[in-house]
Amino acid sequence: MERIDASVDPASIVRLEAPVTFKAYLMCAFAAFAGVLFGYDSGYISSVLAMREFKKQYGHRVPTSVDKTGYDYTSSQHALIVSILSAGTFFGALISAPLADRFGRRTTIIAGSFIFMAGVTIQVAAADIPGLVIGRLVAGFGAGFVSATNILYMSEVAPRKVRGAIVSCYQFAITIGIMLASCVGYATRTRMDTGAFRIPIAIQYLWALILALGLFLLPESPRYFVKKGRLDLAIQALSRVRGQPEDSDRLHDELAEIQANYEYEKHIGQVSWLGCFGGGIQNRNSNIRKVFIGTAIQAFQQFTGINFIFYYNTTFFQSIGLTDPFVISIITTVVNVCSTPVSFYTIERYGRRALLIYGALAMSICEFIVAAVWTSDANSTTANYCLIVFVCLYIFFFASTWGPAAWVVIGEIFQLPIRAKGIALSAASNWFWNCIIAVIIPYIVGPGEGNLGGHVFFVWGTTCAISALFAYIFVPETKGLTLEQVDKMMDEVSARHSSKWRVHDTFLQETSGATQDSTTAKSHS
Ligand code: BGC
Repeated sequence: MERIDASVDPASIVRLEAPVTFKAYLMCAFAAFAGVLFGYDSGYISSVLAMREFKKQYGHRVPTSVDKTGYDYTSSQHALIVSILSAGTFFGALISAPLADRFGRRTTIIAGSFIFMAGVTIQVAAADIPGLVIGRLVAGFGAGFVSATNILYMSEVAPRKVRGAIVSCYQFAITIGIMLASCVGYATRTRMDTGAFRIPIAIQYLWALILALGLFLLPESPRYFVKKGRLDLAIQALSRVRGQPEDSDRLHDELAEIQANYEYEKHIGQVSWLGCFGGGIQNRNSNIRKVFIGTAIQAFQQFTGINFIFYYNTTFFQSIGLTDPFVISIITTVVNVCSTPVSFYTIERYGRRALLIYGALAMSICEFIVAAVWTSDANSTTANYCLIVFVCLYIFFFASTWGPAAWVVIGEIFQLPIRAKGIALSAASNWFWNCIIAVIIPYIVGPGEGNLGGHVFFVWGTTCAISALFAYIFVPETKGLTLEQVDKMMDEVSARHSSKWRVHDTFLQETSGATQDSTTAKSHS
């Protein structure tokens, strides 16, 4: 039975989260800086790969008719260098989950930054492809720690009213990282020494150091301390993330609710990796259903085709007559950066579901237009302008909807006992599909290979339409709810009715017997 009416004193529900100061907002937003590390890391390789010095160091001699620099790598070396990072990130994300639960979210992010720096050191020193590949694998491993645990940390410390906007800042930071990577690559590309590529690689130390230092100064997630049974530390941490004194009643109310929810969930039992797949997919609040939503939303984010643009934009735009790779890269990365802040407002105003459904439909339309124009007339100037405009519109819709919303949703749908593992599985899914797409694209679109060219947009248009359907059926509306309320909402209503769900009682009231209602029977695994 679906329940959407308020049934208890609304004031006590509003009090569920303590008020927040401006400084506390800034502290939460700082964690988003991790996105710069992740974005720069995945973005620098495309400009570096085109540099003469890089090709000379890692490639082999070829006639200048094949490559004007006189050096090149094989397709498999190319695919390996690009994709190995995502492979490392995939494993890093998975391994980070038990560490985040055991040693804390903050410690895991700091450890990830140091592993990342070790990977950067190996890359800077690498004299051959195996060295470079190992360096990218290790750096990817560290970035995996950071990308999964950071979402966990941000979602747990952010005030609920701006949680979506704060996690969207993470996506904004990713886009800035990608743009910075193309700017640094442009600045060093004409150097006649290995500094051309070693400088862009080494700059990553800076991002890792800023992140590690910043996290060192920020408090640990109060929910982690609740999980560890350290309520004294939990109240201290909560007091810092809300900017309120430790004896504030509101702070204690919030802690009591987190604790009541955790006690309730713990009652159901510790959740192992296997347990993340329990409960039956039909059950709308089961672990497996949540893991399915989290991993599928990240897979669909990759199936939008966004990384076709970011990894292979140069080739695509060159084929329609734009020859300066820097201009191409700047156009796409700037549109990406400038469009993301739109989501800070819309994700809280219209919600995650609306952004995902309408965003996917809008992207699908743009992609079908690009594919149709490419098919009918790929050579005229008008057609080329039309392609550029619709590719940019497509990036606008990605950056303002699926880019941030996919990360926001995975931070919100998992209940505390499986949160670290659920987010890790979801982030790993992002990196898994990112890796697969990076490996297969050259083979399916390249001349002499699958030769799909711009027709590939028919594929992305279709996958985007399927993404809209997926969001409509499965993704619940989580805006404005505490993470504990999200759990109740998913228990009581289906995704399609979730926007209308209203808070009616708290975990504390429920578990202390203040509210008796058989319809709130839990159905976890
Ligand atoms: C995606 C990345 C993508 C980036 C583009 C992120 O949310 O996960 O794969 O490159 O957005 O801005």
